[in-house]
Amino acid sequence: MEPALQIDGLSLQIGDRMILDHVSLTLEKGAFAALCGRNGAGKSQLLRCIKGLRKPSAGRISIDGSEADAKTRMKRIALVFQNAEMQIVSQSVEKDIAFGPENMGLGKEEIARRVESAIHLMGLEGRAKQRPQTLSGGELRKCAIAGILAMEPDVILLDEPFANLDYPSTLTVIRALDTLHEKGYSIIVVSHEAEKFLAHTDTLFIMDKGILAESGRSSEIFQKLPEYDIFIPDGASFGDLTWLKR
Ligand SMILES: Nc1ncnc2c1ncn2[C@@H]1O[C@H](COP(=O)(O)OP(=O)(O)OP(=O)(O)O)[C@@H](O)[C@H]1O
Ligand SMILES: [Mg+2]
Repeated sequence: MEPALQIDGLSLQIGDRMILDHVSLTLEKGAFAALCGRNGAGKSQLLRCIKGLRKPSAGRISIDGSEADAKTRMKRIALVFQNAEMQIVSQSVEKDIAFGPENMGLGKEEIARRVESAIHLMGLEGRAKQRPQTLSGGELRKCAIAGILAMEPDVILLDEPFANLDYPSTLTVIRALDTLHEKGYSIIVVSHEAEKFLAHTDTLFIMDKGILAESGRSSEIFQKLPEYDIFIPDGASFGDLTWLKR
């Protein structure tokens, strides 16, 4: 099976600084990957390059085994920004979720089907008519994720999905990610809060100063995280690295 996403020799130079330096990685189909690294390591810039929001200086990006130009990537790869509330544009949750598919020029029935399915997947049934401005932080992030699901992307990238969330909202987002994983989506979550969710992932990428420093199965390489200043509790086993009691 072709990988969902393959990146070869991706570099991003700004001025004389290499923000990303020959990053190569493979995301298998249906994989749930964590991308960790210190502040400034290049995680968000990597996501922006993958999505097609920023033109890399070098490298190639393939989806399902075929090289994908920026336009294709904009369509097939979804990016949930850290400040999910910035993505909310409409007067109700369901209208907001419909915004993406409407812009794709889909028919009314298809939009309705996708909106309903995304609402169901994110467990937002009771919130469909509510104004997004009145949602809790966790619900808001679920709404942003639902909006992206309605566009039926191949790959979902999330930048710091736990930032500024309290304990219950964090659990809500972890459950939402688990659901996406079960549904077979290929996912990369950028976060340095490894102790909250790493046990749910199968793949771990660690970035350091623009370089992909480590890459492998999360359960096999998670103990390297402290070398890169990513906190995990002393003596924690892989299964301990979740806030969700399973
Ligand atoms: N337009 C720009 N000009 C110069 N430097 C930039 C520009 N955009 C990003 N950078 C630099 O690129 C580096 C990587 O930034 P990036 O946002 O990808 O880090 P990050 O790993 O997401 O960090 P954080 O955990 O703090 O979000 C940073 O040092 C940043 O200052
Ligand atoms: Mg960042």
